Amino acid sequence: MATAPDVTRNPFTQTESPAVGVTIENLSKSFGTFEVLKDISFAVKPGEIFVLMGPSGSGKSVLLKHIVGLEMPTAGKVTVDRRDAAAEETREHVRMALVFQAGALFNSISVYDNLALYPREHRIGNEASIREKVMHALQILSLENAAQKFPSELSGGMKKRVAIARALVMEPQLMLYDEPTSELDPVMGATISEIIATLKDQYHVTTIVVSHDRDLALNIADRVGILMGGRLVFLGPPSELHEPKDPKVADFLHPKIDLQNPRFKQLET
Ligand SMILES: Nc1ncnc2c1ncn2[C@@H]1O[C@H](COP(=O)(O)OP(=O)(O)O)[C@@H](O)[C@H]1O
Ligand SMILES: [Mg+2]
Repeated sequence: MATAPDVTRNPFTQTESPAVGVTIENLSKSFGTFEVLKDISFAVKPGEIFVLMGPSGSGKSVLLKHIVGLEMPTAGKVTVDRRDAAAEETREHVRMALVFQAGALFNSISVYDNLALYPREHRIGNEASIREKVMHALQILSLENAAQKFPSELSGGMKKRVAIARALVMEPQLMLYDEPTSELDPVMGATISEIIATLKDQYHVTTIVVSHDRDLALNIADRVGILMGGRLVFLGPPSELHEPKDPKVADFLHPKIDLQNPRFKQLET
């Protein structure tokens, strides 16, 4: 894969701004006595696609929330563009867009109005320039004909694309996706993976994807991290995942169904 460029290109004005990096430094997070994240450290380089994998409940979404300032560390530190992710000002300096797992679209307003919401609320430009941005974002995601539809009229794949288009309107320097291909059929999952990679290539936006989609990780990641039991058990390029050394990682990526020794008999009660 090409080396990561160090500028982000605004999709609408084509102006360039520095791509941002993210660091996770000895991050631990507990809810009560339950330690979800245990001393996690890694860095996401400006302009790369970093895919964070791990079983359900391993703390992927909790980690993502630390980056956008929705959760605070119990110990350690998270920085975005060298600024403390927990500080309010960081979100004034760095434009971040999180594409939520369920899309988080407003169902009572049209696709167009969903996309226009952020620039209207932040008074970014007049209606004519907002219209240009919204229509361009819809065009990038091949959604021009969906502008006047309501989210309830869309398929699951279209909803995900609308959620991505809405994030693009925020002109992000950092794009975060939480399970962007879950609940989609394999072809639509591949389509969304292509979109994420294309946006990163065209706009050089630093991209963090939380997913347990092996195909997505192997095909579009520059680097992969795997969380298990609250610890980072793998950090490296996807090429190292074809034959993982750690048996836990191998079992997570290529689970074998064994009817002689079924897993459900070994579950904790
Ligand atoms: N606000 C919270 N309060 C208490 N427990 C939480 C909270 N958020 C997440 N958890 C727990 O932390 C663990 C990791 O959650 P999460 O990050 O959502 O997992 P996943 O890897 O599937 O995204 C789960 O056991 C979840 O129940
Ligand atoms: Mg999650």
